[in-house]
Amino acid sequence: MDQIKSMSLEDQIALCSGADNWHTKAIPNAGIPILCMSDGPHGLRKMPDSANEMNINGSLPATCFPTAVLSACSWDPNLLEEVGRAIGEEAASHGVGLLLGPGANIKRNPLCGRNFEYFSEDPMLTGKLAAAMIRGVESTGVGACLKHFACNSQEYKRFNSDSVLDERTLREIYLSGFETAVKEGKPSAVMCAYNKVNGEHCSDSKKLLTDILREEWGFDGMVVTDWGAMNDRIRAFEAGCDLNMPGGSSYQEREAAAAVRNGTLDPACVTSSAARVARLALRAQAVQKERKAFDAAAHHALAKRLAAESAVLMKNKDRILPLSEDLDLLFVGPMASQLRYQGGGSSHINPLRLRQLSEICPDIPVLPGCLPDGSGDKKLLQAAEKAAKKAGAVVVFAGLPDSIESEGFDRDNMELPSAYNELIERIAAVNPRTVVVLCCGSPVELPWAEQVKGILYLGLSGEAGAEAAVDLLFGKENPCGKLAESWPLRYRDCVSSDYFAGQHKDAHYREGVYVGYRWYQKAGIPLRYAFGHGLSYTSFAYSDLEIHGDTVSCRVKNSGKRDGAETVQLYISPPEGSGYRPILELKRFEKVFLKHGETKTVRFKLDDRCFAVWQDGWLVPTGDYGVHIGGASDQLFLHGCVHHDGVSWDGTAYPDWYCNPSGSPSHIAFEHLLGRPAAERRARKGIYTMENTLDEMREDSLPARLISKALEKGLSKLSGAEPGSPEYRMTLSSTLDAPLRTLKIFMAKDSAALDALLELSNGHAIRALRKLLDQPQNKKG
Ligand code: BGC
Repeated sequence: MDQIKSMSLEDQIALCSGADNWHTKAIPNAGIPILCMSDGPHGLRKMPDSANEMNINGSLPATCFPTAVLSACSWDPNLLEEVGRAIGEEAASHGVGLLLGPGANIKRNPLCGRNFEYFSEDPMLTGKLAAAMIRGVESTGVGACLKHFACNSQEYKRFNSDSVLDERTLREIYLSGFETAVKEGKPSAVMCAYNKVNGEHCSDSKKLLTDILREEWGFDGMVVTDWGAMNDRIRAFEAGCDLNMPGGSSYQEREAAAAVRNGTLDPACVTSSAARVARLALRAQAVQKERKAFDAAAHHALAKRLAAESAVLMKNKDRILPLSEDLDLLFVGPMASQLRYQGGGSSHINPLRLRQLSEICPDIPVLPGCLPDGSGDKKLLQAAEKAAKKAGAVVVFAGLPDSIESEGFDRDNMELPSAYNELIERIAAVNPRTVVVLCCGSPVELPWAEQVKGILYLGLSGEAGAEAAVDLLFGKENPCGKLAESWPLRYRDCVSSDYFAGQHKDAHYREGVYVGYRWYQKAGIPLRYAFGHGLSYTSFAYSDLEIHGDTVSCRVKNSGKRDGAETVQLYISPPEGSGYRPILELKRFEKVFLKHGETKTVRFKLDDRCFAVWQDGWLVPTGDYGVHIGGASDQLFLHGCVHHDGVSWDGTAYPDWYCNPSGSPSHIAFEHLLGRPAAERRARKGIYTMENTLDEMREDSLPARLISKALEKGLSKLSGAEPGSPEYRMTLSSTLDAPLRTLKIFMAKDSAALDALLELSNGHAIRALRKLLDQPQNKKG
């Protein structure tokens, strides 16, 4: 690129870190404009120019679409593409050239605080939906930034934990969704994750960012760090990590320039990165300038449609739903007056047109039954119980309060607050027509599931979620959502429950490919609701499975009395005796709309990848594969077989646990799978580095302790967030749990203080003083 070649080395390097939180630098001499970025993924979080950046909730109003946890349940790429387009239009209207989303991380464990921002436990579904959303955003001229690449499946110690996993698991589960999203969505940018993968920071990883992303998958866009994820600027240039964000610091820029000068860094790496930043900025210039208006009413209607087509009817005993409007109805629960519709953190939207139930159904009485934070109140409970006794039917709106589910921290357990459980049980005991609407961004245990008649999963449904819920409850809409993740009966049924987050800084992916339904099925563990499950007010009948070569078809009939949509799911099972392979894997799906009585033929094309495993490359083991079609992973009605002549592969040559898994995988079995030891790293005084955090150092470093305490006290004032609120918890963990190098990037100007703090914490007072005195402003001349 000529503009870049004419720039000095220093300018090229400077272009590769942003100007501030949301913009790259303009280089007027070279004709390179600013690129403006804003968060997604389920709406635009554009901060006003005058914003206090620590107040993450202070963004400009935008349409709040359902979060990925719900939109994934639509299983409808076309709809996701429309939503991507709408968000792109809103971004364009604000002069934003790059939207930071969607997220394609795999839901490894239900407690990950950020699961609500991700689509699924399944890479195929994740990839298809992410690709569709990307296509939508990109069609508006705004770029989409696929994130967080890769293996970023927990919030605990998210800035410096190491995701340790074997290559097969990495390829089959954690990279596949990204691969589909990149190949089929063609995003303008990819954001590398905070964590390490197998000991290497994502920002330093040539393997991830160049060998796989660019060379194998053909990605030709820009790689940006997650905010504060840059580790080593020199290695990052070599790895193909282009843009360091947030901007404002000159983090390791001098070192990078020196490395080019002394021949240890190839200048071509810098030039390529600068060119990729410049190319995106140039491409975004037109859309950023134009600031075209968008149709807010149409976007609200789309948000409603997405919520209505995604909500999952989990249970509908005796056809309790849809409810008749003539019934003497009662709404119960704090979420009946304040529906929880989104999660906390960098994806938080200030909705344009939030509508609550009271506005939509002003005549239905509402009683809280417990307090909004999920704690109990005897009087409120009794009042709700009394009214429920007399009501024709009761709908309890329950879920996880804001304080429990957010970016920045994981949940402590899989339970609803106990007051909600008690409320539901007590209401169900006095009213046999009790329905629960669940508002949460991840599965919860449902101890009362057998006691209530109906359960509608509304997830985090965006600004029009309440309207969608009402249409579904009263039958104006027919539910057609299907779960994009398994709902275990109890947390301990989840394979990683013994060793997930909280207990270990590093994430050892001991379970290998057994994530979600792949685990529950192989281990024979019953679920509350299976992957792909979702009921309808009508019924569907499957017939006529035909397999010809690589084409599979079947007929699906709407055999009930109402029009409705069904998601036809195709799973493949491996040849018998395959050892370490899941029993079923989703390979194709299609959502079809059918009028009552109507029948359609659904056709799928299979390819080699549908049968492949990873072993130093994709290979298809020879054998007879099962083809299974139905409306859920546990409702498969049609079964066939295809033979594949591939290669001979021995799936039994894996450690025992992986061939016959039961109980928790041991650390030793995991090391066998990995083929090397996987030790936990411990930080201690004397050997702390910029990689360590205040939280890690506070135990034996007085200065780290004092600073941490001051931050705990002062953050609420600085950020405007109430102590205990999700924003406060996230900001606190983003400070105390961030490595010093990350704080350097965020603090921009005061970074010498962090070098000094590191020396002090390692017990070197004099060196600390020297670091402070060495600051350029303290040097004479
Ligand atoms: C989040 C990203 C987000 C970025 C900018 C990070 O903390 O992990 O998802 O895009 O902040 O807000």
